[in-house]
Amino acid sequence: MRGLFITFEGTEGSGKSTQIRILARRLTRLGHAVVITREPGGTRFGEQIRKILLSVRNHGLDPRAELFLYLASRTQHLEEVILPALKKGKVVLCDRFSDATLAYQGFGRRLEMKIVRNAVDYAAKGISPDLTLLLDLDVRVGLARVRERGRSNRLDREKHEFHERVRRGYLRLARMNRKRIRIVKASRDPAAVARDIQTIVDRRLKDARP
Ligand code: TMP
Repeated sequence: MRGLFITFEGTEGSGKSTQIRILARRLTRLGHAVVITREPGGTRFGEQIRKILLSVRNHGLDPRAELFLYLASRTQHLEEVILPALKKGKVVLCDRFSDATLAYQGFGRRLEMKIVRNAVDYAAKGISPDLTLLLDLDVRVGLARVRERGRSNRLDREKHEFHERVRRGYLRLARMNRKRIRIVKASRDPAAVARDIQTIVDRRLKDARP
């Protein structure tokens, strides 16, 4: 039996964590075994790497060093958490995965896309999510939400133009993977966003049923 691998993506402040919580509650009520996890992080090693990556004190981090740290976190996470859960037939809800690396390090940092793509595939062993929910939001609105929370990290503090490139990058990835990546308008209130997500996931679960 194989589970279902669902990832959430989006620029800063797009409401991923809220939506993951809402979806997890609902799927659990329906009787699914659900695992909530995140990147960077999700394992003991990964959470240590996350601290390095997100600390505002590490503003001098080289973009290639940054790429490898995200991938190191992913490799450990895949082996330790994601694959074992999927093998047990669980639904894995993951806050960011490979698309984030393509969007942030590829489109955002402008590292050579072919190299980033190969490295991403190597780290993820060619595994791609069954479904990706891209919470799309105006960059300014998202960053204002982050500022309101008062917890901005190293990436949040990047220039506006960087975040715009990431957003456009995500939308391009969605156009290139129409079946897997579904765009959800994240500017509306959380309940409306959750309803859209519910419809998409229900359809996907129906398709996955033998
Ligand atoms: P978040 O958990 O609050 O979304 O923060 C993670 C940050 O790391 C966010 O700014 C996106 C960024 N990121 C990358 O740049 N590359 C990646 O591969 C991943 C997973 C996240």
